[in-house]
Amino acid sequence: MATKKELRIGLIGTGLMGRIHTNGYYQVAHFFPELAYRPVLKAVCSRNEENARKFAEQWGYESVETDWRAIIARDDIDAIDICTPNDTHAEIAIAAAEAGKMILCEKPLARTLAEAQGMVDAINKANVPNTVWYNYRRVPAVTLAKQIVESGKLGKIFHYRANFLQDWTINADLPQGGTALWRLDADAAGSGVTGDLLAHCIDTAMWLNGAITDVSAMTKTFIKERVHQTTGKVQPVGIDDACLFHCHFDNGSLGLFEATRYARGHKALYTFEINGEHASIRWDLHDMNRLEYFDHADESVVRGWRNIHVSDGDQPYMNRWWIPGTSIGYEHTFLHQVADFLTCLETGEPCSPTFQDALETQKVCEAVLASAASKSWKDTGVTV
Ligand SMILES: NC(=O)c1ccc[n+]([C@@H]2O[C@H](COP(=O)([O-])OP(=O)(O)OC[C@H]3O[C@@H](n4cnc5c(N)ncnc54)[C@H](O)[C@@H]3O)[C@@H](O)[C@H]2O)c1
Repeated sequence: MATKKELRIGLIGTGLMGRIHTNGYYQVAHFFPELAYRPVLKAVCSRNEENARKFAEQWGYESVETDWRAIIARDDIDAIDICTPNDTHAEIAIAAAEAGKMILCEKPLARTLAEAQGMVDAINKANVPNTVWYNYRRVPAVTLAKQIVESGKLGKIFHYRANFLQDWTINADLPQGGTALWRLDADAAGSGVTGDLLAHCIDTAMWLNGAITDVSAMTKTFIKERVHQTTGKVQPVGIDDACLFHCHFDNGSLGLFEATRYARGHKALYTFEINGEHASIRWDLHDMNRLEYFDHADESVVRGWRNIHVSDGDQPYMNRWWIPGTSIGYEHTFLHQVADFLTCLETGEPCSPTFQDALETQKVCEAVLASAASKSWKDTGVTV
C-alpha cells in the first residue's frame, strides 16, 4: 500500500452513480493489485450536510463538502467525479478543468452539443486526464464483442440494431423534476430517452461499428403535462418519452435504434445485434454475462447460435474474478472503468471514452433530436 501513488477523489453527487463509482474506487485495489495508483476517498459533496455525512460514514470518505466549488478549490483533491444530474455537468467540469483537476464525468456529457463542446474545449486547454462513464463498454461480453468485430470474424457488416426499453414513466400521475425525478424535467436532463438511454446505445455502437454519419428520427412525448415537484404546478413535459431512429454508418452498414420508457414489462432491456457477412453477434443487458454468436462457417448440421457464457480467464476482465462459470454484475463495469483509468494514468494514454469520444455521441444525439423536430435527415458531423 505504502508504495502506491494516491489518486485523491472528490465525488460530487451521492445518488445511484455516486454509490456505484465509490464501490469501484473502494474495491479496485483488491482485484487489480498491480496498479501503481490507489484511489483515496478524500471528500464527498452533497448539498445536504447530513446526507453528505451519512454517505461519508457509510462509504469511508474522509471529509464532506456541501458546495461542489469547495471540493474543486481543495489542494488535496486530484480528481473530480461528476455524479450529478446533466444540467450540472458543464459548469462543474469546466471549473474542475480550469483548476487543473482530472475529471471523471457521468454521461451524457451534457444537455446539448454546445455545452459539451465547451467542456471539451476546457479539457483540451487544461490537458487533464478525463473519462466519461459509458460503462457498458466494460461489460466483459461487450468487450468480447469488440474483440470479435476487430478480429474481422463478422466480415463486412450490414446491420447494427439496438434497443433500450424501460417502462417506469407510464403512470401519468408521476411528477417531473426535483431530486428523484429530474430525468423527466427537460431543463435538468436536456432530453428524455435520447440523452439518457440512446446515448449509451450510440456510444457502444460507434465503438463497435464506427461513425454514424446521418440519421432520421422520430420522438414522442406520450404524457404531455405533469406536475412539477419544485413549482407544484402542472407544466408541459419537454422530454422525449420514446425515440426511434435509423441511420447510416460510415462503414456502409445500416443502423436501427429504439429507446422508450413506455415498453410495459421491460426494466432496462438494452440489447444490440450486429449482422455481418460471415457471422452475427447479439447481447442483452438482462443476461449480461452471455454473448450470442452465429458463425455461418460452422458445419451446417450443427450450425446455430452459440450462447457464450463469458466467465473464463481468457475472456475480457474475467481473470480478475472468481472461477470459470461464475458471474459478475453491473457494478463490475464501473470497477473496470476505474481500473482502466488508473492504468491510463500509468501509461499516459487516454482512457476511453474520453470527453472527445463522448462529444461524438453528443453530436449524434443532437442530430437525432433535430431530425425528429424537423422531420428530415440530418448529418451528424461525427469525426470519421
Ligand atoms: N453510466 C450509467 O449507466 C448511468 C446510470 C445512471 C445515471 N447516470 C448518469 O449519472 C448522473 C447522475 O445520475 P444518478 O442516477 O446517480 O442520479 P441520482 O438522482 O440518483 O443522484 C444525483 C445526485 O446528485 C445530487 N445533486 C444534484 N445537484 C447537485 C449539486 N448542485 N451539487 C451536489 N450534488 C447535487 C443529488 O442530490 C443526488 O444525490 C446523470 O448524469 C445520469 O445521466 C449514468
